[in-house]
Amino acid sequence: MELTEKEQAILDGKEGPVLQKLMRSVVDYGNMFGATRLADIDHGGHFLMSMGLGFIKPIYDMLDEIIGAGLKCDRPFTMNPRPRDVKYFKVNPLQNLVFSILYKKQGYLESQLRAIGLRDPDAFSCTCYLPEVGNCPRQGAILAWSESSAVVYANSVLGARTNRNSGGIDFFMNVLGKTPVFDLLTDEGRKATWNIDVRCTKRPNAQLLGSAIGMKVMGDVPYITGLDKFLGNDLNGEVTGYLKDLGAASASNGAVGLYHVENLTPEAKAAGKKLLVQGFKTYIIDDAELDRIYQAYPVMWHRKSPSICFIGCPHLNIQQLNDWTNRLHAALGGNKVKVKTVFLAAPPVVAAFKKQGEIYEKFLEIGAILTSICPIMHLANPLVSPAVVTSSNKLRTYTDARFFLDDDLLPIIVSGKIGGEK
Ligand code: F3S
Repeated sequence: MELTEKEQAILDGKEGPVLQKLMRSVVDYGNMFGATRLADIDHGGHFLMSMGLGFIKPIYDMLDEIIGAGLKCDRPFTMNPRPRDVKYFKVNPLQNLVFSILYKKQGYLESQLRAIGLRDPDAFSCTCYLPEVGNCPRQGAILAWSESSAVVYANSVLGARTNRNSGGIDFFMNVLGKTPVFDLLTDEGRKATWNIDVRCTKRPNAQLLGSAIGMKVMGDVPYITGLDKFLGNDLNGEVTGYLKDLGAASASNGAVGLYHVENLTPEAKAAGKKLLVQGFKTYIIDDAELDRIYQAYPVMWHRKSPSICFIGCPHLNIQQLNDWTNRLHAALGGNKVKVKTVFLAAPPVVAAFKKQGEIYEKFLEIGAILTSICPIMHLANPLVSPAVVTSSNKLRTYTDARFFLDDDLLPIIVSGKIGGEK
């Protein structure tokens, strides 16, 4: 990899041993992936290491070393969700005890994050890019983000450029303000090797479509045709919510870091089918293919009554919160949810939702919980029942949760039973 004079000086230790170590790690990492040079990062980071687990001491030591050297990230950054919410999502005393042990370093981690440039004390959500949260890069911005759902959104919907970085190296890059140029940072790496030809008769469920794409293309870049017919050409709140969920499913059921949607996402709008490489492969998705995938998901538990329902992994945007509230309110007809139902959204989105007045009143009437945690971190507690239902394919992938399409989930929440049995 070619380095500038200044980068080489850091690598030679002329700016201190800690910066030297960071540069050594980033350069080795870049070389491993065939990077040609380092690019300047020009937008704040977003990182996944938001849970203060007791056993990841090397992470705390590493952050202490960075802070001790008087270093911090170039720009303010945001973090993935917190693992717990003791105010709005209460658990029983035994579960609480296990959480206290499991995440015993949470306070310490958060003090470290503030010291190295956390954007604000409540900057904890995987949907950092929503306008209410404000970590929203412009098209073409160079980033070094981790958290797969945020990475795929930034690349695909916003047209920014970041690789799928892992926890640890993401901090190093953002302290240095440099990221290696390879893969999704290059024009070539952003070209599509797959054409996903959507031939459904109605708008496909975003989570199911993302899952199908991810399982087929794995880490490749797909170019999706036939979807603009259902989504239109505007990136409004409803469409971006859809693309958020599609991307998260493709990034977790596969390893997609970027997708293009013909006539909709910024690079596809600008370049169209020129984004497809010669000799691209094609995957046709129709109603039958999506149904085959839905039916093939493993059933991890067989209770008639689920213990909890999570909606919003990744976190909901405000339009999705409003839509779910309205749908559930109408379906319940004045009753309260029969399954403990948890809506998940970023703290500033929750605040904006509450300010809306009437719709928040409706939300209070249905008896659901509204919080900003990550459900996967919640389910890491062995005393929490795994009998979870969800509309999130990512949550299904990483836990024993059972995935249901929105229309199938609604009667479960209303009746408390799978299959709607009384
Ligand atoms: Fe976000 Fe946690 Fe789901 S980070 S995408 S709520 S697994």
